[in-house]
Amino acid sequence: MSKRINVRDLDVYYSDFLAVEGVSMTIEPRTVTAFIGPSGCGKSTFLRTLNRMHEVIPGARVRGEVLIDGDNLYAPGVDPVLVRRQVGMVFQRANPFPTMSIRDNVLAGVKLNSRRMPKSDQDSLVERSLRGANLWNEVKDRLQLPGSGLSGGQQQRLCIARAIAVSPDVLLMDEPCSALDPISTLAIEDLIEELKQDYTIVIVTHNMQQATRVSDKTAFFNIAGSGKPGRLIEYDDTATIFTKPSVQATEDYVSGRFG
Ligand SMILES: Nc1ncnc2c1ncn2[C@@H]1O[C@H](COP(=O)(O)OP(=O)(O)O)[C@@H](O)[C@H]1O
Ligand SMILES: [Mg+2]
Repeated sequence: MSKRINVRDLDVYYSDFLAVEGVSMTIEPRTVTAFIGPSGCGKSTFLRTLNRMHEVIPGARVRGEVLIDGDNLYAPGVDPVLVRRQVGMVFQRANPFPTMSIRDNVLAGVKLNSRRMPKSDQDSLVERSLRGANLWNEVKDRLQLPGSGLSGGQQQRLCIARAIAVSPDVLLMDEPCSALDPISTLAIEDLIEELKQDYTIVIVTHNMQQATRVSDKTAFFNIAGSGKPGRLIEYDDTATIFTKPSVQATEDYVSGRFG
C-alpha cells in the first residue's frame, strides 16, 4: 500500500506528436500531489502514463521510465492490466456502470480481475470500500439499486469505492470534482485527505483553491505554444508554488494571469 512513484525523463507521444516532453519527478507515498497548468499542456496525458492507460489509444506510446517502488511499469513483460490494478484511476465524469447495482459497481473491478470470492467476503469488501469512500451510510439500505440513481457527488464517491476495492497502491484522479457542486466537492476533498493515509494520490485540478486545500506538492505544467510539447515547469511544496515559486510562468499562472 502507498508506494513511491519515480518518473525518469518521460516523453509521451500520440503517434508522431510529442505531447509531453522530458518529465522527471518523484512522488512520495502518503502524499497528495496536484497537477496544474493551462488546458492542453498534457496533464491528463501524463497522468494516464502513470498506470499505462495512455497506450489504450492507438499509436500512443512513451519513452522513459515510470517506477513504482523501483519497478518500471514499462519494463518488458509487465502486464498493463496488473499495473492498472495497482494504480487506480478516477475520471472527471463519474462513470458508474448505469444498469449495475451500487454493490456490483463496487465489485466491478474485482470481478474484472476475476478473483472468485465467497459472497460473505464480497459483502465485507463492499462495505469496507464504501466506508472508505465515505458513502456507506448514504447507500447501505439500497445496495441493490442502480448506481445511476445516486447524485453526481455520490456517483463520484462510488467510483472511488470501485477504485479502492481492488486495493491499489496509487490513486490517480483527473479533475474528479469538475462536474460537482461545492458541497460535493468538499466531500471529495475531505475523502482525499483521509485516503492519503493509505494511498499515494495524484490529482489533476483546475481549481487553485482545491490544489492548496488538498495537496502537499504541486506540479505546474505548461506549453510554449500550440503543437509544442507540454513540460513540467516547476514542482515543489504546494505552499512554495503558491507563495514564492521560482519560475515567472508559475507565478503568472497561480496568480490567474493566464490559463
Ligand atoms: N487521444 C488523443 N490523440 C491525439 N492527441 C491528443 C489526444 N488526447 C490529447 N491529445 C493532445 O495532447 C495534448 C495534451 O492534452 P491533455 O493531456 O488532454 O491536456 P490537459 O489535460 O492538460 O488539458 C493536447 O495537444 C491534446 O490535443
Ligand atoms: Mg485534462
